Amino acid sequence: MNALSKSSVVAVIGAGAMGAGIAQVAAQAGHTVILFDAKEGAADKGRSGVLAGLDKLVEKGKFEQSLRNEVAERIIVAASLGDLRDARLVVEAIVEKLDVKRSVFASLEEVVADDSILATNTSSLSVTAIAAGLNHPERVAGLHFFNPAPVMKLVEIVSGLASSKQVLDTLFETARAWKKEPVRATSTPGFIVNRVARPYYAEGLRLLEERASDVASIDTILREAGGFRMGPFELMDLIGHDVNFAVTRSVFDAYFGDPRFRPSLAQQELVAANWLGRKTGRGFYDYNPDAPKPQVLSIKGGAAVKSLIVEGEVGHFEPLIRTAVSNGIHIDRRGGEGYIRIEGSTIAFSDGRTATERVAQGGPSDLVLYDLTLDFEKASRIAIAKADQAHSDCLHSAAGLFGSLGKTVTVVDDTPGLVVLRTVAMLANEASEAVFNGVATPFDVDRAMTLGVNYPRGPLAWADSIGAEHVLATLEAIHASYGDDRYRPSRYLRRVVGAGRRLLPGPDL
Ligand code: NAI
Repeated sequence: MNALSKSSVVAVIGAGAMGAGIAQVAAQAGHTVILFDAKEGAADKGRSGVLAGLDKLVEKGKFEQSLRNEVAERIIVAASLGDLRDARLVVEAIVEKLDVKRSVFASLEEVVADDSILATNTSSLSVTAIAAGLNHPERVAGLHFFNPAPVMKLVEIVSGLASSKQVLDTLFETARAWKKEPVRATSTPGFIVNRVARPYYAEGLRLLEERASDVASIDTILREAGGFRMGPFELMDLIGHDVNFAVTRSVFDAYFGDPRFRPSLAQQELVAANWLGRKTGRGFYDYNPDAPKPQVLSIKGGAAVKSLIVEGEVGHFEPLIRTAVSNGIHIDRRGGEGYIRIEGSTIAFSDGRTATERVAQGGPSDLVLYDLTLDFEKASRIAIAKADQAHSDCLHSAAGLFGSLGKTVTVVDDTPGLVVLRTVAMLANEASEAVFNGVATPFDVDRAMTLGVNYPRGPLAWADSIGAEHVLATLEAIHASYGDDRYRPSRYLRRVVGAGRRLLPGPDL
């Protein structure tokens, strides 16, 4: 299947943030673009916004003047819907309301040729529902860009029940020709990215609600230990709590109240207070320049550690041991059940059970757990927690070890799965559910999450590197601890573990 030819006219309806950006992408790819907006002057404003943006890039030497002039020639503002008659592809990016979108698509069918493609940029509505009732629902599909459309590489090509393969393939190839990275998804609530990303916000909010740690510390742990670009709270403040809460609610309702998507009371309170984030100057953080800087909890460790005893063969200990060796720490390896012993405390990697539970089940009474890091050797921070039965000096000793390994230590409450492991396990679980439900392939799910929300690693590949079995055990332990169905492990994850396979199958499988 071929991409739409460059000589084909593309129309964009709705010239707001997304429509203007999509018009720019299509014009840069060589198409004549007809831009229409129902609001007087909005299409002109959208077009001049695109050109002003390009002028700035030209000034900085990042865009060629000649291409800027071509884009200016190619984007034509339409006075009425009738001006879209020659379009071979129409991309709709209007207000997110089903009845309005349906009526625009019905009017479009009166205007464009019977075989022109009608695409919607909707992020939360059903593509199937938008297409329903049209004369040719098979030519409707989702073409879901990310904001800002000219910058973000990901495009989700979304199939509704009636979408034809030919239309989907043409959109896929066209997105590629537009220098985007398309992935395929079926029309299900949130498609890939807006569904699989929910736990990133939700687990942060839950950790906060149960007082496992504070906003700034959770954000910092996820950045400095987890390798995420932004922590969940600063990210929600940037997106806006009205928008983020509305998406969460809509996904929750669309899945008939599945507890996996349950919204948070803490976020609802922010919306009620009109503390919507950066745009109102206050959200989880206070953006008033005079406001005190939030303090991240960090503890200083005790004496530097010179030697440690490693009991048992535990894969997760290996990067810690390598870092210890390179810091001149002596390692004494022995048989045992997976503990690192230093003067004053016993250390283990989290497996979803709390330290307190592990002590109660016969573990050492000076137990301190450490959290996942994206890359132990490079991480500048690590989160730890001690068992309720353990003396507080244990934290001091453990912080001494991690301090000797070059890490800043944040102590969190003894919460199931701690912060990074729990978040990544839940992202991988949701990614697994998306695969299980046939929303997308494992490869496309991972690609969507790295390209659409800049995760440092695709959730499935990340879970494989932790060990799918460990991720499953972690989720089972968290599930048992809360008794909350939101933590139930996905069948896909169970099946992969049962078969000894990988969540993201490699070319050899
Ligand atoms: P926006 O509010 O910036 O722009 C929407 C534009 O559509 C406005 O200029 C409005 O005048 C126009 N419009 C409304 N009804 C119309 C109609 N019946 N006919 C023609 N024009 C009409 O909205 P934004 O953010 O650009 O979103 C547009 C669509 O893209 C929505 O479906 C949204 O869910 C989706 N989307 C938004 C993203 C975002 O981050 N803002 C990301 C991806 C998708």
